[in-house]
Amino acid sequence: MPIRTSVANIKILKAEPDDLPAIQEIASIIWHEHYPSIITQRQIVYMLALDYSLEAMNKDLAAGISMDMLIVGETLAGFAAYGPTGHEEVIKLHKLYLLQSFHGQGLGSMFLAHVEHECIEQGFKSIVLNVNKNNHSAIKTYRRNGYINQESVLADIGGGFFMDDYVMAKDL
Ligand SMILES: CC(C)(COP(=O)(O)OP(=O)(O)OC[C@H]1O[C@@H](n2cnc3c(N)ncnc32)[C@H](O)[C@@H]1OP(=O)(O)O)[C@@H](O)C(=O)NCCC(=O)NCCS
Repeated sequence: MPIRTSVANIKILKAEPDDLPAIQEIASIIWHEHYPSIITQRQIVYMLALDYSLEAMNKDLAAGISMDMLIVGETLAGFAAYGPTGHEEVIKLHKLYLLQSFHGQGLGSMFLAHVEHECIEQGFKSIVLNVNKNNHSAIKTYRRNGYINQESVLADIGGGFFMDDYVMAKDL
């Protein structure tokens, strides 16, 4: 796995069901730090409940979605989730999240390179993801790492909320 960051003492571990409460805790911190300029507070609360309940995350693990934890020193700094799509050669990156205090040091790109390496090992040929059109810092990270825009999607996620996203993709 190429490590392109000067941050020391990094570990990446596979999450087990027992790790999910810690992931749920930092997900809430990250979403409340990062998304207020992108979506409403009500949508943040709605999406956290939808995607980060222990029930939803346990279902993801049971469905074969990998969840990896990035640990810096003793701190859980972020997590990534990725799993199969309906297409046997294509994997989807569902989540790539770092606490704000760990941004801007190359850690996101390093974590992404780790995910891509795992996906190649599993035999996938390309990776896709959805990113909010106004999530400029994340789009910058994906572009920097070779992802290109594939299409725009407006998805109805219930509760009167929508996700206005780009689908981005990269050949592995
Ligand atoms: C998306 C996310 C994971 C990117 O993490 P990141 O670590 O900031 O991203 P990068 O690895 O691309 O960091 C690159 C930045 O670190 C800087 N950097 C510092 N040292 C570096 C090094 N050794 N190597 C590489 N970059 C380094 C770069 O110059 C760059 O700065 P810039 O953005 O001002 O140009 C992070 O922004 C995040 O968690 N966001 C909130 C959640 C989110 O939106 N997730 C995506 C949902 S689709």
